[in-house]
Amino acid sequence: MKKIAVLTSGGDAPGMNAAIRAVVRRGIYCGLEVYGVRHGYDGLMDGDFQQMDLGSVGDIIHRGGTILRSARSEAFKSLEGQEKAITALNNAKIDGLVVIGGDGSFRGADKLNQLGLPTIGVPGSIDNDISGTDYSIGFDTAVNTVVEAIDKIRDTAYSHERICIIEVMGRHAGIIALWTGICAGAESIIIPEVQFDLEDIMERIQFGQKRGKMHSIIVVGEGAISGNEVKEKLKDKFNLDTNVIVLGYLQRGGTPTIYDRMMASKMGVYAVNLLIEGKKGLMVGWKKGQLTHLNFQDAFKEKHTIDLSDYYLARSISI
Ligand code: ADP
Ligand code: F6P
Repeated sequence: MKKIAVLTSGGDAPGMNAAIRAVVRRGIYCGLEVYGVRHGYDGLMDGDFQQMDLGSVGDIIHRGGTILRSARSEAFKSLEGQEKAITALNNAKIDGLVVIGGDGSFRGADKLNQLGLPTIGVPGSIDNDISGTDYSIGFDTAVNTVVEAIDKIRDTAYSHERICIIEVMGRHAGIIALWTGICAGAESIIIPEVQFDLEDIMERIQFGQKRGKMHSIIVVGEGAISGNEVKEKLKDKFNLDTNVIVLGYLQRGGTPTIYDRMMASKMGVYAVNLLIEGKKGLMVGWKKGQLTHLNFQDAFKEKHTIDLSDYYLARSISI
């Protein structure tokens, strides 16, 4: 292993830069040449590589987003696209690749590995839904950002006695909604993993109103239903007026928390170590509070689940 490359793929997540830094610095420390691939798999197919030195990752540990840029690449999903990437990697004499991204990115990384290029995945996604790991880089920052936003919205909800529906990201997973709903004291949390009940949401609002609490926060995970649909349903069924706030990309940006910087640093170094040891076709994981690694294929068979007891915990304390 003499030359390795690193790329970021899929949705950007705070802490990806800290992970890039760890890969580059650890690689150079261990005597490797390290290349950055710009624009995810699109750049990989086009051979958009740049050699990284120690200074190229200076001053990025605290920055959100990804200096290498990211992409969602349709072209890379085809065998033709993957073979194009392999040719570009071979032409540049790259011996190993670190892919920082989510589930989709790991499927792509696995394909490259099967085509002969040793590949290691580092989990990076605010959604924290990646199979094979309890944690993915970016989640901690994203949930802190969401809670900070809801705390502010709460001030207005309280002052004007309004009911606010806050739609958060997470794609098919409800963990962002669940954690932020609990930590921001939402009266109702709607997540894809649990069938929601409009009557129940209304009852909880009325229960609060009976004791003089005239404002209410409902957190909705985008994978369950949109905030606007919840608003329409509450209007149609109960003639209830609500305000909808879609937090959107606000959740993906910003300075990574200490936890994300720490996880990114640990996982980035671990990924380089695996490549140096001659390992391939693996993703780095965080399980039971420890770094671990597992085959992409084994990871794909696992399902990342949420702890449903947290959902019921929320119901019993946010009343
Ligand atoms: P994430 O990595 O955050 O889950 P995506 O699902 O958008 O984000 O995946 C990122 C990229 O990974 C896709 O745009 C595509 O180029 C590649 N990818 C996703 N699924 C596959 C697949 N089954 N085979 C090959 N490449 C894939
Ligand atoms: O995977 C991260 C994520 O932000 C999801 O929460 C969201 O559904 C999706 O990406 C949005 O993707 P895009 O970058 O295409 O807007």
